Amino acid sequence: MKQRINPNVAGRGKSPTLGTNELSAAMEAEGREVFRFGFGESPFPVPDVVAEALRQNAHQKSYLPVQGLPELRDAVAQFHGRREGLSFTGEQVMIGPGSKELMFLLQLCLDAEVLVPTPCWVSYVPHGEILGRPVRLIHTTSDERWLLSAERLAEEAPDATPRLLILNYPGNPQGTTYSEEELQALADVAREKNIIIMSDEIYGELHHDGAHQSLVRYYPEGTIISSGLSKWCGAGGWRLGTFVFPEELSWLREAMCSVASETYSTVSAPIQYAAVSAYSGGEEMESYLSASRRIIKAAGNWAAHRLNEAGVAVHHPEGAFYLFLDFSTMAPAIAQMGIETSSVLCEKLLEDTGVVLLSGEAFSRPPEELTARLAYVTFDGSEALEAADGSVDNSFLEKYCPKVVEGVDRLTKWAEALSG
Ligand SMILES: Cc1ncc(COP(=O)(O)O)c(C=O)c1O
Repeated sequence: MKQRINPNVAGRGKSPTLGTNELSAAMEAEGREVFRFGFGESPFPVPDVVAEALRQNAHQKSYLPVQGLPELRDAVAQFHGRREGLSFTGEQVMIGPGSKELMFLLQLCLDAEVLVPTPCWVSYVPHGEILGRPVRLIHTTSDERWLLSAERLAEEAPDATPRLLILNYPGNPQGTTYSEEELQALADVAREKNIIIMSDEIYGELHHDGAHQSLVRYYPEGTIISSGLSKWCGAGGWRLGTFVFPEELSWLREAMCSVASETYSTVSAPIQYAAVSAYSGGEEMESYLSASRRIIKAAGNWAAHRLNEAGVAVHHPEGAFYLFLDFSTMAPAIAQMGIETSSVLCEKLLEDTGVVLLSGEAFSRPPEELTARLAYVTFDGSEALEAADGSVDNSFLEKYCPKVVEGVDRLTKWAEALSG
C-alpha cells in the first residue's frame, strides 16, 4: 500500500506520564516496592455532593449543545467571576472533554507561533508538533522559580508576528506561581505585543493558601482561562474541561466550536449536569477544598524541606502537588556514575530507591539537565480528607501519607550518600 502516516505523528510514543504509570504498575506487579511519584492524578475522591449529582443525572441521554450545557456554562462563568471579581457570561464559556482537548483545538484553530515557557506540562509541545505549528520554547531558570519573567517575554516576542503564549500557574511541574506584580508585568508586555494568552489554571483551586489570582484581572481582553474538574474536584476520569474567552476572542471560540461539532460533538450529558453542582460552590465544596489544600501544602513543604536539607535544590511549592527537583548541585558525583541525562538519572533512581520520578526532559528541559518532577500524591485521599480536621503535621503525614514519607526518605538518603 502507498499510504503512509502523517509525518507529524510518525514515531510518537504515548504521553510520558501515562508511560511512567504503566511502568510503575508493572514493577509493582513483580512484587517490587515502588514509590509512584511519576503520575500526577488527584488523590482525593470526587466530593459526595458532586457524585450524588451524577447519580441523579444518569438518565440524561440527549446530545447537548456543542459549546456546553447552558446551565453549566453559566455556573462556570459565575465561578470564575466570583474568584476574580469580574463578570463573565455563559456565552463566553466553552465546555470540552478535558481541557487537554480544548488546548489542542485552540492550537489547531489559531494561526500563530506558540510560546511555551519551560519546564512545562507534557502535552503543550506535542500539540504544536502534531499540528505543525511553530513552537518556541523559553527556558526559565531555577533562580526565576522556573517562571517566565516579563523581560524574557518581551525578548522572545520581538515583532508583531501573531503569538499564543501558554502560561500555567500554579505550575506543573514546578509547583510555583506568579505574584500579582509578576502577572501585571506579563500582562503589560502581552498587551503591547498583542499576544493571546492561554492561561492554564487547572490547579488554581489548589493554590495552597486558596489565594490564586488569574492573569485575566490584568489582561481581560487577551486571556483565555483554561480549567476543569480534573484536579480540584478529583475527577480526571470524568473528562470535563472549560475555557473562558474574552468577548474580543469570540471568533476563536466559534472556530473551536465548529471543529468540536465535527469531532467530539459534546461532552457526556450526565457529567455536564453533575458538574453544575461542583461549580455552584457551597459549604461542602469549600471544606473539601480547604482540607485538600492543607494536606498537599503540608506534604509538599515537608518533602521540599527534607530534599533541600539533603542537597537537592527545590523550591517550596505554592500550589498543585508537584516538586521540580534539581540534582545539578551534585552533578560531579552523578557524572562519575556515568549519568549524563535526566532520563538516565531517573532510571538509576528507580533502580536504587524504587522511586519513580518523571525526568526533566519530559517537561521540555534540555536532556542533559539533571532535573525531575516528583508528584506527592501517593496516598489514600479519602482517608486523609476524613482525618484532616485538625492540623496536618508530620505525624499526620507519617500516618496518612506513609508512601510519600518513605519514598522521600529514600531519595534523601540516596542524595546524602552521594554528597558524602
Ligand atoms: C498543567 C495541566 N494542564 C492541563 C491538564 C489536562 O487536564 P484535563 O485534560 O484533565 O482537563 C493537566 C493534566 O495533567 C495538567 O497538569
